[in-house]
Amino acid sequence: MPVVRGKAIEVLFSASAIARRNLELAKDIAAADYRDLLVIAILKGSFIFAADLVRAMHDAGLAPEVEFITVSSYGAGTTGGEVRVLRDIDSVVKDRDVLLIDDILESGNTLKHVRDLMLSRGARKVAVAALLNKRMKRRADIEADYTGFDCPDHFVVGYGMDVAHAFRELPFVGVVTGDA
Ligand code: IMP
Ligand code: MG
Repeated sequence: MPVVRGKAIEVLFSASAIARRNLELAKDIAAADYRDLLVIAILKGSFIFAADLVRAMHDAGLAPEVEFITVSSYGAGTTGGEVRVLRDIDSVVKDRDVLLIDDILESGNTLKHVRDLMLSRGARKVAVAALLNKRMKRRADIEADYTGFDCPDHFVVGYGMDVAHAFRELPFVGVVTGDA
């Protein structure tokens, strides 16, 4: 088991499994025939997934524009979960197809908030790609169009996901099981 920062980490999704899945997702996205596609990565947790997925999209023949939005969620997983935009995109989304990329779809509050925001700005279509789906935690009315993996109900780290900004650098997704 990998040990990082003195903690043992159980690997849930390996780097090679994620890379294979990204290629499949990119092919699915390429098959959907989006027009004038704008990819928006939801920071910070999606930064590695987005970096890998947009390159897989290139390999699948796509040439999207890529943007970033930074949001923070309070009370994620609760009905009152409030989402705030900390840094917005620069692009105009009116009449464009948008693909939102996030690390985990959990309560769904974050992705629903950003999707509704882009629709309110006149986006023609807003699709969602999430690396992980914690379907048992869903509260908001939203599903991903593209999902990497179903995720068990554990707090996961790695591949961009963190505990207090640690463990983002791990090339795999795992669970901290305790002191090594
Ligand atoms: P939602 O709004 O409840 O869907 O929250 C999703 C966000 O919560 C994700 O984008 C992550 O940033 C964060 N999150 C949820 N579960 C985990 C986890 O297991 N590890 C790390 N971050 C998580
Ligand atoms: Mg996040």
